[in-house]
This record gives sequence, C-alpha cells and structure tokens, in this order.
Amino acid sequence: MGVGTAPAAGCPASGERIVSAVRLVKVRKSFGSEPIVRGIDLDIPHGEFMVLVGASGCGKSTLLRLIAGLETLDSGEIWIGDERADRLPPAERRVAMVFQNYSLYPHMTVAQNMGFALKVAGESKSATREAVGRAADILRIGHLLDRLPRALSGGERQRVAIGRAIVRKPRVFLFDEPLSNLDAALRGEMRHELLRLHEQIGATIVYVTHDQTEAMTLGTRIALLRGGALEQQGTPLELFNHPRNQYVGSFLGSPPMNQLRLSWRAADRIWQIGALTVSEGMLPALSTLPAPESVGAIGVRPEAWDLVDPQAADAGLACTVNWVENLGDSVILFCGIEGEADPVAVRRPASGFVPARGERLRITASAANCHLFDRQGERLC
Ligand SMILES: Nc1ncnc2c1ncn2[C@@H]1O[C@H](COP(=O)(O)OP(=O)(O)OP(=O)(O)O)[C@@H](O)[C@H]1O
Ligand SMILES: [Mg+2]
Repeated sequence: MGVGTAPAAGCPASGERIVSAVRLVKVRKSFGSEPIVRGIDLDIPHGEFMVLVGASGCGKSTLLRLIAGLETLDSGEIWIGDERADRLPPAERRVAMVFQNYSLYPHMTVAQNMGFALKVAGESKSATREAVGRAADILRIGHLLDRLPRALSGGERQRVAIGRAIVRKPRVFLFDEPLSNLDAALRGEMRHELLRLHEQIGATIVYVTHDQTEAMTLGTRIALLRGGALEQQGTPLELFNHPRNQYVGSFLGSPPMNQLRLSWRAADRIWQIGALTVSEGMLPALSTLPAPESVGAIGVRPEAWDLVDPQAADAGLACTVNWVENLGDSVILFCGIEGEADPVAVRRPASGFVPARGERLRITASAANCHLFDRQGERLC
C-alpha cells in the first residue's frame, strides 16, 4: 500500500491521510518481570532510513524482533502499511530481517541462499533466477553466485544476506547491527553500499546499531532509545544540534559534548564552574538565560570552543592542557578547569596552533554553540 492510501477501518485515529511504512503504538514488552520496551510510539514514513540507536541492552533488538514478529508484544499495536501486523505470523508481515551473523545456509551456494525464500514460496525457476540476478547486480556480487558461503569474505557474506532480503521484495527491511562483524575499512565501504541501496530501491529501512557514527551517517531519521523508552527522534542534525536533554547531547558526537556544571550563587549573584567565577564576558550564553537558578549545566561540543587571549583576565574560562590526543586531521586537548573533576575536550585543527601539555588557555563558545540544561538535564534553550 502506498503513500496517500486511506487508512483501513480500525487504523489508529490520527487524522492523518498518509499511512506510515511502520507505526508503533504504545508498544510494550517484558521478559519475566523486567520491562524491556516501555511504551514506544514511533512512526516510520515510507522510504525512510530509520536508525534505532542506543546503549547496549536498551531494547533495540527486542523492538526490531517485535516488528519482525520474532517476539510477541505484551500490549500496544504494530502497523505495517495499513495492516495491523502484531497479530500476523512473521511470514505474513512481508518484512525481511538481516542479522549481524548473516545466518546463511552453509551447504547452499550464494544463488541458492538468495533464491531460497522464492523457491519455498513456489516461484518458478526462471523468475527466481531473474530476481537473484537483479539483486546480485545491485550488490555487485554477480561473480559469486556459484560459491558456498565459507568461500566468501565477511563483507561478501553480508552482501549475500542483504541480497537474500532484497529478492523477497519486502515492505520493510529490518537490519540488526549488520556491520558489526566487519573491520573498520569494510564497515565504511558497506555504509556506502547501504546508502546506495537505499537510494536505488527506495526501500524503507529500520536499522539497529549502538554506534552513534553509523546512526549519524546512515539515518535519514534517528530514534534514540534509553532503557526501553524513546528519548528523542528526528533527523541526525536535529538530534545533534537540538538534543532534548543531556543524555542525547552526550550520546551523539565523539568525543561527546562537554557538560559543565554551572552553579548560581544567589547571595552575591555570581556564576561558578568548578572553582572559577564566570562572567557573561567569559561565556556570552550566560546573558541569554531565563532564570539563573534553573540552569544546571551548559553543554559545549569539543569543536565549538574558541581559544581567546590567555592574558585577557575577563575573556574565556581559564584552564590547563592536561593531555593532547592527536587524531591526524585534528587534535583533542583535554583541559582541566580548577575545581572540576571532568576534563573539557577541545578539538583543534592539527594544522593550526596546537598548545602543549601544561599550557594555560582560555576557552569560550558563542551563545549559539552553548546548550543550556536545567537541573534535571532537560534542554532549556
Ligand atoms: N529472550 C529474552 N529473555 C530474557 N531477557 C531478554 C531476552 N532478550 C533480551 N533480553 C534482555 O532485554 C534487554 C534488551 O535486550 P536487547 O537485545 O533488545 O538489547 P539491545 O539494545 O539490542 O542491546 P545490544 O546493543 O547489546 O545488542 C537486555 O537486558 C537483555 O538481556
Ligand atoms: Mg541488539
């Protein structure tokens, strides 16, 4: 069913005319007494590359398996297209899942692996051969069709597993950490392959990873899970630039966003970060605050810091370079602020001025580059 199809009777009353590729409504799942998925609502429009990301154990695979029908939900609804799917057996959901470990049949050739689902469904030999050939062309594995899986590299096996999904023409592709068994170079290459595949076949993809780089580079949208609940969803840049809370701010980006604890001494009306007294001249964002006492922390990404004249007394936060990490194209300076336990990460181009360990610096950030969080860690502005 395509975009614009009127919802079937019994569809969740949303007033929208457009049917999502996948819609989760208050989905819950426990194992024993342990709630693992805690009431997730999520709409995945057609053609979207939706990445489910979150720390290990937060329930990503469980959610994917619920969509695939490999787990049954406790309550809530799963819609695929305009069809209520949570009561359908997996085979009738017309989704295809690609697992981390590929799960290829070892005694079948690549072509037989890829065509197996069509054969079981009673497709003719010629139609199966044609579908396998088309998928093999897309994935550039036409020359491997007669090989057995054991004669393939990890990346080639992964392509075959994806090819097996493509020939089934599913309504939705479900990927569970498909690249995590590959080395860094191959992972990068396969990321490009997946983006090309998404563009070429316009498929809806739900992709699970715990890797924030993969989420940022692959997703047209990201849903960030934490402890079985949805923390925030949006485009990668929405999450990166407007994290709803400190958790989201720190999850995306490497090194993560610095979180400086800010305290307001109401009696003498001054700000403190660690043992430093901080003025608006040092950190312009302070002049834009709503109520000073509501602010708990200020978030600044490593690349958003500017260095200012270390001799100027009232410009920037004084700190000392504790150690320098050289990444080739850039360096990360880990700087200590007096009275602050956590070092502040400052990213600088490797080609520019790189301060040495032990050097005193002053760092500041424009108001636009500062994220203000309240005492509970929620975004203020
Ligand atoms: N069949 C099961 N029985 C009991 N507990 C389970 C079962 N499957 C998953 N869990 C638990 O549910 C939690 C979420 O697991 P899940 O596999 O969904 O996490 P994940 O986000 O995919 O993590 P990872 O990034 O490590 O793959 C974990 O604590 C896990 O131990
Ligand atoms: Mg998992």
